[in-house]
Amino acid sequence: MHSVNFEKIFLTVAILAPVGILAQTLEASLPPGFMICGDQIMDPAKGSKVRFWWGYHEMDPSRLFFVVAAKAKGYVGIGFNNREQMKGADMVLGWITSNGTVTFEDRFGSTDFASPILDKEQNVKLEVAKENATHTLFAWTRPAKTSDTSGQDWQINNEMIEVLWAYTDEDPIGAPAMHTERGHMKLNLVEKHPTLGKP
Ligand code: HEM
Repeated sequence: MHSVNFEKIFLTVAILAPVGILAQTLEASLPPGFMICGDQIMDPAKGSKVRFWWGYHEMDPSRLFFVVAAKAKGYVGIGFNNREQMKGADMVLGWITSNGTVTFEDRFGSTDFASPILDKEQNVKLEVAKENATHTLFAWTRPAKTSDTSGQDWQINNEMIEVLWAYTDEDPIGAPAMHTERGHMKLNLVEKHPTLGKP
């Protein structure tokens, strides 16, 4: 396990992404203490444009952190579910407009076919939001077990879950709409966590 160096992380993203963008990288840094447990290219068969990291804060391991970086300038979303589709998924959805306005929201998949709705209780804390000419990056924290008892949050345990991802090339005009690309991958987000990863 190691502390986060986002500049390095983002360079790796850029290198893995399609050619022509090596000169355009994004620098982002978090406060110290964030430990990485894993990272994953989420779309190896779809251009390797989405990379996701997960970990925890060493002073308070119950506080999990996540980072998503995508070669996309619209919205970027990450969801947790026990199925590959959107219904039932605990999601975050964020975008940064060209004038720098940041939106980052805790959402919930109420159907398989429409925009995830805003959670009644917002349980994510945005830590970093960055966009450059080619990429968008969000880092956020949340407790492994949130106080949301409405069923809109996924309580993170030592198990494989479906991690959903989606992005658009353009910022939403009005309400967020259909993705440019989307997908899912099975991951265990706390397997290497010091306490939650124990059997
Ligand atoms: C914001 C508005 C959104 C709309 C209107 C929307 C709409 C849809 C629709 C109509 C489908 C079915 C057609 C298809 O398979 O492409 C779909 C599938 C899917 N969406 Fe969304 N979506 C939205 C956001 C998101 C977000 C934020 C995520 C991830 C965090 C996501 C993940 C997925 C995935 C993984 C599938 C494919 C499920 C499967 O494999 O069958 N969507 N979405």
